[in-house]
Amino acid sequence: MTLLLRPEREAQIERVCRLLNQCKAVALPTETVYGLAGLAQKEDSLAEIFSLKARPTLDPLIVHVENSQKVRSLVKTLSPMQEKFMELFWPGPLTILFEKNESIPDLCTANSPWVAIRSPKNPLFQKILANIQQPLAAPSANRFGRISPTCAQDVIDELGPFGLEAVLDGGRCEMGLESTVIKIDDKEKKIEIVRAGSLSAEDITKAAGPAYEIIFRKSGSGIMTDAPGQLEVHYAPRKPMYFFESLTQASLEDWLSKNNNSLSDISLLSIFPQAQIKAPHHTLSQSHSEKEAAANFFKTLRQLDNNSTKLIIAVGIGAQPTGLIKAIYDRLQRGSHKQP
Ligand code: TXA
Ligand code: MG
Repeated sequence: MTLLLRPEREAQIERVCRLLNQCKAVALPTETVYGLAGLAQKEDSLAEIFSLKARPTLDPLIVHVENSQKVRSLVKTLSPMQEKFMELFWPGPLTILFEKNESIPDLCTANSPWVAIRSPKNPLFQKILANIQQPLAAPSANRFGRISPTCAQDVIDELGPFGLEAVLDGGRCEMGLESTVIKIDDKEKKIEIVRAGSLSAEDITKAAGPAYEIIFRKSGSGIMTDAPGQLEVHYAPRKPMYFFESLTQASLEDWLSKNNNSLSDISLLSIFPQAQIKAPHHTLSQSHSEKEAAANFFKTLRQLDNNSTKLIIAVGIGAQPTGLIKAIYDRLQRGSHKQP
């Protein structure tokens, strides 16, 4: 049975730290999603993380630090642009790739010379980091390829059956989508968005200034590329999901009859209200708020995965996605089946 630890009890915080120091993996809340944390510089801790998640060791882990000062001892070089991004967005949902030094085990980065580092904003995670005084590796606390957890119960549902020892209950995650991962190339004056996430591409563009070009790494480029972890199928519910960038009542009914399904077989998920669809649907934000939609995304997807319908139909906003909607699209595209 997984221990559900309460942060208001100091003895339970101490217990988290003791477990981590014994090279156990413990699930912790962050402002984005729950992470499965372990000592980033200890192979035993890293091995437990990979095994609990059933994650291939080709997929590197993000290292979490208290603040930008703690990065110095982990990397070979620091560029002014990397410093600027840390100063602007840390603590917060931005992960930056750095050239690692030998203090980071190859297992942590899947043999890549690059290590992904971020400083989380969640005060409980910060409290643990301050106590442990070591960097913590933490992938999202779900089984590999599945929906990310945004509350302690989600973590227990995902990893409890596989022997997770403890989760620290920090309530519902504030942002609900993972951090944005970037790689800064100062020579080529390019910033690559390796994974879209809780910090929008627009915010990154503004911070980078006109001298830098912002490029998106194509998702689904496969595990053997230099984008490990950017697998085609990811963030996926157990039941089939199909994603439509736009949909009308007529095109929905047409699709259902072609595929021998009826309205009662499906759960409809929309990002914003879709007045043209008469069928009942679950809307991520009634008030067209990107932030609210992001915060509700994984939670709603998990609910629909657990109800009794046969499949999930997700509907986009019917326009070019920007901001956090782009990050939601990325996850919907990768969690969905190809159209039959
Ligand atoms: O918000 C988050 O980032 C959460 C919380 C717990 O901090 N963590 C998270 O980790 O989402 P994870 O392991 O589920 O996703 C990390 C992704 C990898 O799949 C990979 O795409 C990218 O970050 N990544 C990590 N290290 C990398 C590296 N060395 N090179 C390229 N991509 C890397
Ligand atoms: Mg993940």
